[in-house]
Amino acid sequence: MLDAATRARDFPALSTRVYLNTAAEGIPPPGVGAALSNYFADKQLGMDGRLRHAEVHTAARRLAAAMIGLETDDVAICSCSSEAFNLAAMALGLEPGDDIVVTDLDFPASVTPFLQARCPAEVKLWRSRGGILHADDLVGLLSPRTRLVSLPLVSFYNGFRADVPAIATVVHRHSPALLAVDVTQGLGRIPLDRESGALVGADLVVSSTHKWLLGPHGGGIVGVPPARRSEWTVPAGGWFNIRDAFGAGRFDAAESLPGAASFSVGMPNYPALYPIRAALEYLFHVGVGAIDRHAGALVAQCLAGLGGLGVDLLSPTDPGHLAGILAFRHPQAEAIHRHLHARGIHVMHHAGRLRVAIHGYNTGADVETLLRELAGALDTV
Ligand SMILES: Cc1ncc(COP(=O)(O)O)c(C=O)c1O
Repeated sequence: MLDAATRARDFPALSTRVYLNTAAEGIPPPGVGAALSNYFADKQLGMDGRLRHAEVHTAARRLAAAMIGLETDDVAICSCSSEAFNLAAMALGLEPGDDIVVTDLDFPASVTPFLQARCPAEVKLWRSRGGILHADDLVGLLSPRTRLVSLPLVSFYNGFRADVPAIATVVHRHSPALLAVDVTQGLGRIPLDRESGALVGADLVVSSTHKWLLGPHGGGIVGVPPARRSEWTVPAGGWFNIRDAFGAGRFDAAESLPGAASFSVGMPNYPALYPIRAALEYLFHVGVGAIDRHAGALVAQCLAGLGGLGVDLLSPTDPGHLAGILAFRHPQAEAIHRHLHARGIHVMHHAGRLRVAIHGYNTGADVETLLRELAGALDTV
């Protein structure tokens, strides 16, 4: 794990702030910036640069795949989670009479493709109770007509962490639906590799790259387990995704490559792929397990402190239902946010709630400072 010296070396920007907003934007280590320059250098090679671009693309997919327990060919990297979910919706080929289940802890990216007026499916809402999604409440929403259940691994809203294997068992026992898991708020922060078993039963895995992964914007990781390849073959136009796109029959028909490859429709976003690869290498170097152990203790420290301050917690209090995010409501949230920000403490303020996000580069001192200044803010607002 990071010590004081490696933290200062890898995250110099953190020397002047208490940064607890990784659920919005991660702070990339310097290797990520260097990789952006490497892209530029390779781009100077013109067409010859494409060989290097392709190597980086494959390396990024290999590392991303290892991080979510899949193989390189099971992973594509498109440009954002929203793009991935729109393509996934297209792959489903929804018809009137189909149902989709989404949760009230989902981020809009995994919900809104199905709320568009032209979407023929009916959307059913799995509501959380006390900040927790209870599998019992899901059963009644499932039927032979359910095509998809959309689930955040860790909720952007309150940090609730879902037990994917348990929920997958319920989904698959009670419906023919596929389970899509948005891991954006967990990937890079908690182990999701094969050994962890954390994603067993997920039929589609999607993640943005600019948060806990410590990468740049412009990445949407898509994981398709081999058994689901045919179900997740997107009938989208493009060329990178098309079998024999320049062949003799190119004006007769278009056939998508199967599975993950069908989510990569045009020229890959190489300016993002170089730093994504560097961010993944960095995380493997530090170790996501080590990050989780370190940051998990800080989450417990923060949770205990928030309990002592009597805030209106939106997050569950069971550590098994948490990853790196804690959230609470306050009528004066905006003023509290201003108070904290003025003192160099960065948390998220949105929709009446404050959200604290704790990654491996955070320290016990960060949490102490937050709690101390929060106590001061609560006294004055
Ligand atoms: C769970 C989750 N998914 C996705 C996103 C972002 O989606 P996109 O990559 O389309 O911007 C966010 C936050 O921005 C998020 O919290």
